[in-house]
Amino acid sequence: MCGIVGYAGTAPAQSTAASAGQRALEVIVEGLRRLEYRGYDSAGIAVVGADGIAMRKKSGKLVKLLEELALHPLPAATAGIGHTRWATHGGPTDANAHPHVVGGGSLAVVHNGIIENYSGLKADLLERGHSFASETDSEVAATLLGEIYASLGADGGDADGAADGPVAGGGRLASAMRLVGQQLDGAFTLVATHVAEPGVVVAARRNSPLVVGLGDGENFLGSDVSGFIDYTRRAVELGQNQVVSITGTSVEITDFYGTPAQGREYLVDWDSAAAEKGGYPSFMEKEINDQPDAVAQTLLGRTNGEGVLTLDELRVDPSVLKSINRIIVLACGTSAYAGQVARYAIEHWCRIPTEVELSHEFRYRDPIVDERTLVVSISQSGETMDTLMAVRYAKEQGAVTVSICNTNGSTIPRESDAVLYTHAGPEIAVASTKAFLAQITATYLLGLYLAQLRGNLFQGQIKDILAELAKTPAKIARVLENAEQVKELARSMAETRTVLFLGRHVGYPVAMEGALKLKELAYIHAEGFAAGELKHGPIALIEEGQPVIVVVPSPRGRDSLHAKVVSNIQEVRARGAKTIVIAEEGDESVREHAEHVFYIPETSTLLAPLLATVPLQIFALELATAKGYDVDQPRNLAKSVTVE
Ligand code: F6R
Repeated sequence: MCGIVGYAGTAPAQSTAASAGQRALEVIVEGLRRLEYRGYDSAGIAVVGADGIAMRKKSGKLVKLLEELALHPLPAATAGIGHTRWATHGGPTDANAHPHVVGGGSLAVVHNGIIENYSGLKADLLERGHSFASETDSEVAATLLGEIYASLGADGGDADGAADGPVAGGGRLASAMRLVGQQLDGAFTLVATHVAEPGVVVAARRNSPLVVGLGDGENFLGSDVSGFIDYTRRAVELGQNQVVSITGTSVEITDFYGTPAQGREYLVDWDSAAAEKGGYPSFMEKEINDQPDAVAQTLLGRTNGEGVLTLDELRVDPSVLKSINRIIVLACGTSAYAGQVARYAIEHWCRIPTEVELSHEFRYRDPIVDERTLVVSISQSGETMDTLMAVRYAKEQGAVTVSICNTNGSTIPRESDAVLYTHAGPEIAVASTKAFLAQITATYLLGLYLAQLRGNLFQGQIKDILAELAKTPAKIARVLENAEQVKELARSMAETRTVLFLGRHVGYPVAMEGALKLKELAYIHAEGFAAGELKHGPIALIEEGQPVIVVVPSPRGRDSLHAKVVSNIQEVRARGAKTIVIAEEGDESVREHAEHVFYIPETSTLLAPLLATVPLQIFALELATAKGYDVDQPRNLAKSVTVE
């Protein structure tokens, strides 16, 4: 939520790389284009040109800023900063857009996060004679930075001379930033540039993402690596409460007190082509079609030559995992539905009581957690603040924490005891699709690994399940090939005002995920219910013509689940519902109860979510497209929710 870009090149005379130099504008625009999925209420750029700071900002999507730049171009510059906003404090207006330029036009600042003590700071600043042009907490931080900067000596020491001398890491702007970092409460990434230090960009972070990109004669800052993936794949993680100062040839990191720090450097394992639409009309459609690969990549390299699960990256002592007597899965939104699917598999395979909790609810119910509790967080972005806070709380209580995450180097896996990465590749569309299937796959691997360690399943059983999982990508591809029928139905339902989704067992979270996709993309009221719950109230919603989409389990499954769901279909149909069914190939019994049946390939009950979800994603995508909506950037949303 909110995308930030910073760029520092080398002035042409000193340039060591042909590509580096005064291209701040081009790099920042490209970075903002890549990061726009993090928020699209407004966008802005500031550069330090020959005549000081030049800034353009506009409410609305990035395209509005680009129109503004075409009318009023920015000068060529060696360094600059950019921002794409998801509004928190203050509506999506031009005035509230970032950057905020303060200090009589000498300092430009962008911010992501929420500064919790901003009102006290603002009152103090007002008292000291400052005024504000926006309603944002960000401008308060910017003004404070400007005030502190002005109070420092030229070398970053006290204004009365060089009492403290220059502290480590960067110059005066970095010193001021450290002092600001000490004063702010809450979550923030702040990035700033000052007229007196052209070619320098300084940033601070706490509980909000920021990554450094290392170039040749140029360096970058981004909320995530997509902010600079067109220019470099070399990235550096920053820790909590750190300040980084970049120029074209240097990167200096310290904590808020000036102690030098080292970031972990890593190579991003995807390139800019993976973050392009690849010929599809939207990222959403591309990512739905990426799903066979997302599952296959997540399964890749998880076993040794004998077919034994190894999960090398999961660095938790096996004896600790053996002693676990409880699992709590923490996540939000789609990731939480992946957790709900996983619960059925993990309890079935491992016989460990498993609960799934929305991260933002977890801390507030005084949960019972101890060192024998395994807390599994699931997060595509690895930055979701609600989940991060829940993981921290669980750690404080002594839990063993494992992160299932799609974003290398992000905060949640870094703060967890161990990580199991999903390898879905970058997910750009705001609504999650391929990450969901990859998350289910990864949690299944974790469940099977625990079952293997604890001896709950025979090795042969684990091999059989893994072999079936290995066939899933090809089956997903078949669902994708046969999508036309789903698309046709979706187009015919563009005027629908409400849709209900039903499922049982693993089909229940799939139904909720189907409903969420329709809400997010098509702005249609949709609810997912456990089919058995219907008769306890929601059936009152059914009236003539009400569309009800039902996820039907395999007739080969256990416990007459199939028969029960077929009865539920009959109950709603008897009351006038228009029934649309997702069923397994060969299940002819559902035909007589449904207006439309979409078949998915045969698979075991627990693996069915990896297939049954796909037609629901396609349904939501096509219906939203028929309504003319932007499926990649639905209204009011942003990817990576870094505020609580
Ligand atoms: C829905 C969606 C969200 C995310 C949720 C958690 O399509 O994308 O519900 O799943 O905000 O995000 P992560 O997985 O990044 O923690």
